[in-house]
Amino acid sequence: MLHEKIEKNAALLAILIVVAISFGGLVQIVPLMFKGAIVEPADGVQPYSAIRLAGRDVYIAEGCYNCHSQQIRPFRSETERYGHYSVAGEFVYDHPFQWGSKRTGPDLARVGGIYSDDWHWLHMIDPRAVVPESNMPAYPWLAERMVNGEVVQRRMRALRRLGHPYSDEDIQSAAEQLQGVTELEALIAYLQGLGTEWTGQRDGGDS
Ligand code: HEC
Repeated sequence: MLHEKIEKNAALLAILIVVAISFGGLVQIVPLMFKGAIVEPADGVQPYSAIRLAGRDVYIAEGCYNCHSQQIRPFRSETERYGHYSVAGEFVYDHPFQWGSKRTGPDLARVGGIYSDDWHWLHMIDPRAVVPESNMPAYPWLAERMVNGEVVQRRMRALRRLGHPYSDEDIQSAAEQLQGVTELEALIAYLQGLGTEWTGQRDGGDS
């Protein structure tokens, strides 16, 4: 009887569907907010330094995520190419994270330290100069644009509210550190740090 009533009343059915889905969502999502391996940084993982944070903004503003993911899946085809699969604790200081799923270019989660700064510089100015078959766009203007230290300071304050452990000193010194730094230098600093901090990957562990 009750079942028939619900099925014949579209509005009631819609409301009950929303209730059921919300409940299911909460059961899945809420426990994750408290799970240590997910909300705590993996060993060695630090909040982004001012220059890397500035570079991360360039990465997002230029839409690099449209062609590059930052998440290595736990499959042999991926780990042999890119290194240890990504773990949740590597991303606790990523707001928003850059995982993505579009791979026109390679995954960048562990690209840090693989190439020299000079290689990256050339590659961003003219990708074909170092990888002849590349179809990645060139980003020459990044070498001319300066990073705005004040914006980065504001970003650090906002992130501190989200729990990133920046000290007043970190935030104050950011503007000075970023004086005369180009967007390209910041972007390269960001790329060179990707995937290098988590110490667990070296002994193949999960901590
Ligand atoms: C239209 C797609 C596209 C966009 C947008 C793009 N890339 Fe690429 N990227 C590629 C392709 C394809 C390759 C592989 C060929 C090469 O190395 O140039 C690549 C390679 C790379 C590599 C070398 C990775 C490796 O493991 O060899 C880095 C680093 C990189 N891109 C960074 C960036 C950054 C930073 C941006 C944004 C400023 C960006 N890419 C935007 C397509 C793209």
